[in-house]
Amino acid sequence: MQDKPFSQIDDALNKAASRVLATSLSSLMQMPNRDRFIYQFEDLTVDCTRQLLDDDGLSALFHLAENCQLQTRIDEMFSGAPVNITEHRPVQHMSVRTPDYLASVAYQKLSAFAETVRRNPDITAVVNLGIGGSDLGPKMVTQALAGYHDGPVCHFVGNICPTDLHDVLVTCDPEKTLFIVTSKTFTTAETLANAMMAKHWLDQHGVDAGTAMVAVTAAGARAQAWGIDPDHIFAFADGIGGRYSLWSSVGLSVMIAIGSENFSRMLAGAYAIDRHVRHAELSQNIGVIMGLLRVWCRRYLQLPAYGLIPYDQRLAALPAWAQQLEMESNGKSVDRQGHPLQRPAGPLIWGVAGTSAQHSFFQWLHQSVDITPIDILVAIQPAAGLDGQIWGNHHKLLAINAVAQAEALALGAPNLAEPHRHFSGNRPSVLISWDQTTPYALGRLLALYEHITVISGFLWDVNSFDQWGVELGKQMANQLQSGEGLEDFSPAAKAFLDRLNTPRT
Ligand code: F6P
Repeated sequence: MQDKPFSQIDDALNKAASRVLATSLSSLMQMPNRDRFIYQFEDLTVDCTRQLLDDDGLSALFHLAENCQLQTRIDEMFSGAPVNITEHRPVQHMSVRTPDYLASVAYQKLSAFAETVRRNPDITAVVNLGIGGSDLGPKMVTQALAGYHDGPVCHFVGNICPTDLHDVLVTCDPEKTLFIVTSKTFTTAETLANAMMAKHWLDQHGVDAGTAMVAVTAAGARAQAWGIDPDHIFAFADGIGGRYSLWSSVGLSVMIAIGSENFSRMLAGAYAIDRHVRHAELSQNIGVIMGLLRVWCRRYLQLPAYGLIPYDQRLAALPAWAQQLEMESNGKSVDRQGHPLQRPAGPLIWGVAGTSAQHSFFQWLHQSVDITPIDILVAIQPAAGLDGQIWGNHHKLLAINAVAQAEALALGAPNLAEPHRHFSGNRPSVLISWDQTTPYALGRLLALYEHITVISGFLWDVNSFDQWGVELGKQMANQLQSGEGLEDFSPAAKAFLDRLNTPRT
């Protein structure tokens, strides 16, 4: 049995895959009109010429999009239909980057609070306590926009590992630190344990937690019951999934770091991509094309992993953010109707900033038996503030490395006389570039990755908005913690627990 949307088009796409695998990327790249594979939106260029895909394969992918009623699915999502069918709710993260949202009372309240904190000389540090989407997004953006950071220092503590919080607290003055407890559900064990420790630390130093702690959550009543002043609770909608939430009040720490105007510019960039994805023709729609490429690489070329390599040290945390985004969204094995998928959906996503990655795992990318497509991300100009020719030249070295790697992976360099020096090439990448990493450009880029995730999810027909796969581990940790139902656990787990519970001498 084949999955429904794929059944009619699978043959054509399988044939296209066999055909390109029998030719070489270097010959595909020389084909006339190959620049058809370069897509442009404003100054964002998405160069797909180094994909193992030909014109007929691309046309077949667009047929797949039609078979999957992709345009309808996109429209349904934007129009607020309850597309998250297991949680019976719409998907609302795009609603918090519209001009209407920017003019809303909620956004005004959030920005006013952020600006008050920024102006307050008695707040020198902000600590965001949150995990997953309540951590990775704001942390990544704060690093990415370090050049715009003129507010208090911002720390991010996600892990329940005590060193994570401890190592931040030792750098903070209890009388000058604001804690933001960020948790959509306000039930997450790690975040609540860290928040409790932070409260204890404030108490120990005689500081009123009522003023030093605020909350960002979709569960206001729980935050209030926990002890947060209702005036210090910044809500966001239930329909905004954690991994899609950095645009909402979850971005409060970012706003405090870079200011509300810069934050608004980031939202404007995301909104621009939303409009493009919603309205551009499928054949020129970057979100759609990149989503189709995910499916192409995973299902037809059968490549199980996908790398993201930002050539920008400040974007070093982007792969970790995108990893949660894509893998928590599309790491599924049943379709939306609950039927088993016949072939795997979302790939393993991973990555490290270039050029450091070149001196680490690029050996494997260039010469291992496995082939892994990657996105290479690079700005044409250095970051704002790195002015002058010297920094410009320095940045050029970085950007040249980015394109050199794309070419080396694609073209290879045969050396049959010395097999250890042989580069087979034929290793696909997408080169994504833009002028400069401003808040606007970053918003655009991140929203694009969200759309790639969701669109490939639509094509695989999985629900990209739930994450039931994380529940069992949480439940078992709770059981082990409470000691209830221990008979369900293996002898090895019980032995580990005994060791943990043995009093230290
Ligand atoms: O356990 C996974 C998860 O639910 C993620 O989806 C989410 O981003 C993270 O935990 C944190 O959840 P919350 O914001 O509710 O604390």
